[in-house]
Amino acid sequence: MELQEKGLTREEVLKSLEQISKDDFDWSSGRIFGYVFDPGKEVMGVAEEALLKFYHKSGLDFTVYPSALAMENDIISFAASHLGGDESVSGSFTSGGTESIILAVKAARDYTRVKRPDIKEPEIILPITAHAAFHKAAHYLGLKVVQIGVDARLKADLDQLEDAITDNTILIVGSAPSYAYGVIDPIEDMAAIAEKRGILFHSDACMGGFLLPFFRRLGRDVPNFDFRVEGVTSISMDLHKYAYAPKGASVVLYRSKELRKHQIFACANWTGYTMINNTVQSTKSTGPLAAAWATLQFVGDDGYLEFARKKLEATEKVVNFVNMHPDLRLVSEPDMTLVAFTSDSVNIFHIIDEVNLKGWYIQPILSYSGVKESIHISINLSNVYHMDEFLKDLNEGIEKARELPSGTLLEKAQEIFSDMGTTELTGEAIGKIMETAGMANGKIPERFAPINEVMNILPPDMREELLIEFASFMFR
Ligand SMILES: Cc1ncc(COP(=O)(O)O)c(C=O)c1O
Repeated sequence: MELQEKGLTREEVLKSLEQISKDDFDWSSGRIFGYVFDPGKEVMGVAEEALLKFYHKSGLDFTVYPSALAMENDIISFAASHLGGDESVSGSFTSGGTESIILAVKAARDYTRVKRPDIKEPEIILPITAHAAFHKAAHYLGLKVVQIGVDARLKADLDQLEDAITDNTILIVGSAPSYAYGVIDPIEDMAAIAEKRGILFHSDACMGGFLLPFFRRLGRDVPNFDFRVEGVTSISMDLHKYAYAPKGASVVLYRSKELRKHQIFACANWTGYTMINNTVQSTKSTGPLAAAWATLQFVGDDGYLEFARKKLEATEKVVNFVNMHPDLRLVSEPDMTLVAFTSDSVNIFHIIDEVNLKGWYIQPILSYSGVKESIHISINLSNVYHMDEFLKDLNEGIEKARELPSGTLLEKAQEIFSDMGTTELTGEAIGKIMETAGMANGKIPERFAPINEVMNILPPDMREELLIEFASFMFR
């Protein structure tokens, strides 16, 4: 793109944007099982108005915009009581789950630096199901990740947790629930182990923090995962997920201000304004904060309870379908709206392609650490009106997938990879594989099964190299 010598007209700009986005998934279609949290036009209308009204205000300086302080304090006090916290719980509004997690890990690192200066090489313990954001946080913050396995239900294994703790452990993480399988870790047991050893414990409730208390009120058996559990010292809960705030909305909460203090960054060592940043971002719009505040106020307790009821019914429908289908099985019984299922008789990557070619979006989860590859669907409000059609298409997709050949790209990729170890994974090799997979010139292919099959057999470090090369190949 070049700058226009003379700017385009408003109509021309908007038309160009239409053109650029013509291949995007229609997020309002109700056919995407992930990414979209659509509460319907009425709620979204209020949120959008709030977003735009505050969009131009900066969250950099709450002394200029006291509304930012007031709205954030309202949201944090609501979140603390929603998650069983008392007056001593504090926290911050952030741009998303990943930022909340990075901040919680940073606070743990810096708090422990003060309390345990003897720890020179800090470690954090993550079940294999913990979100990738913790790996990213450890990567950014220079911490060692120690992974532990899961039991038959894909919940963190307690014996492995006990064994993994060392004198260097600064933080243990559990999920409520995990992204891939929608399963809640044994948070009470994990946090008790952490507390006994004087280690901080983070409950990642990015997905479940908002919704699970409503599921409990609807009669579901939801174990404690929040500040009701003694050893839990911090929690992340996203508002841009099941609280339906527009994107850019999450909270990170701490049991005490003493711990939260280590999240805050201030800088007076330069010539500019005195800087206090509670979060990673510095200049940021207060639009998402206002939109989250407005959404919570507008939907209200009764609205969210009704939303939860619908999602619970839709989830039960999918779970029953999978349990009845001779070719499918659940990877684990889900505790929430995230369902993963697999097949021992049909190639699931083909099933995904067949279903997605009918205008749906369902997601592959690759095999990892002995857990078989699966199909993941995150069930949402906008999906609940389309479940019968979806299950019909899923059924047809299985029949079609049964007929398709497997491993077409695998053989060719193996030839390319056989000549090289992980260190030799070059841009050129990636280019070749992508070309063979129909991804030349930044084109996104219709079918992903061939590339998913390749990814599925690669060890994780090689998958990562491939993904980094892929991003590097796609983005200028
Ligand atoms: C359990 C869990 N934690 C953290 C995250 C990261 O959230 P975000 O994508 O908002 O950064 C997600 C996202 O799906 C999640 O499911």
